[in-house]
Amino acid sequence: MSFHDSVAIVTGGARGIGAATALKLARNGAKIAIFDMNNSMAAETVEKVRNLGSDGRFFSVDVTSREQVEEAVEKTMSEFGKIDILINNAGVLKDYLIDDMTEEAWDSVINVNLKGSFLCAQSAQKYMKKQQYGKIVMVSSLAATGTKGRVNYSSAKAGIQGMTKSLSIELGSFGINVNAVAPGFIDTEMSNVSKASAKNRGIKDFDAFKKSFINSNPIQRVGRPEDVANVISFLASSEADYVTGQVIYVSGSPVT
Ligand code: NAI
Repeated sequence: MSFHDSVAIVTGGARGIGAATALKLARNGAKIAIFDMNNSMAAETVEKVRNLGSDGRFFSVDVTSREQVEEAVEKTMSEFGKIDILINNAGVLKDYLIDDMTEEAWDSVINVNLKGSFLCAQSAQKYMKKQQYGKIVMVSSLAATGTKGRVNYSSAKAGIQGMTKSLSIELGSFGINVNAVAPGFIDTEMSNVSKASAKNRGIKDFDAFKKSFINSNPIQRVGRPEDVANVISFLASSEADYVTGQVIYVSGSPVT
């Protein structure tokens, strides 16, 4: 799979699934623009991209800010000349059972995951339309199917699936494909956030919960960032030219 001469924006690319995706794309020739708020980790990922022989830039962006997103998309255009790929990966968790779910926890999770994906897609597709080519890959979650203590997050991730399908219909005739991955339990820093807030969603023993997840998973393990990056990379490539509006679960299990 070659991304030679391609330019990819990866939101939340400083670490975890986003960093694994940035490196996977860079390894296959893509130039990478990372949009993230974690400046030090983003700089490390850009360094790794450059060590792979590709070009990388970091833009300090809060994806909930239209101004910051638009400015960074414009800078990506002026630095690299085009935008072929947008990976809408930035996300956060703020887990609480419904009685304790504050408006702040609702708003911030909806804003980063859902509104952030909308703002980045809206801004990048303008340039993709002019090019008559683009690949947008959203990052949903297994949580879209319903999860205790995550009414904010599962609403955002289900919303991303709706956004994916609607945008695929709207943008298909411009040569733009829009698809999503929906990861299951992936070992990243976010899993540590999840562990720290497990009690907020009624999980007393997170390690026992993880063990029972693994035991009931057909592949018998949690996922790695690279498992997700591999599928994102396919959807971002021209090998997926006739695939659009799809959600691929990367969860080691069938989703019914
Ligand atoms: P992570 O917490 O390791 O990485 C998330 C990245 O997003 C970080 O670099 C963070 O700085 C960045 N970010 C957060 N808020 C931002 C904002 N407002 N603007 C710009 N960047 C921001 O998480 P992980 O696990 O790599 O998650 C990546 C995506 O995958 C997220 O959308 C997450 O919801 C999704 N996901 C993760 C799963 C998991 O088990 N780890 C499962 C299902 C989905």
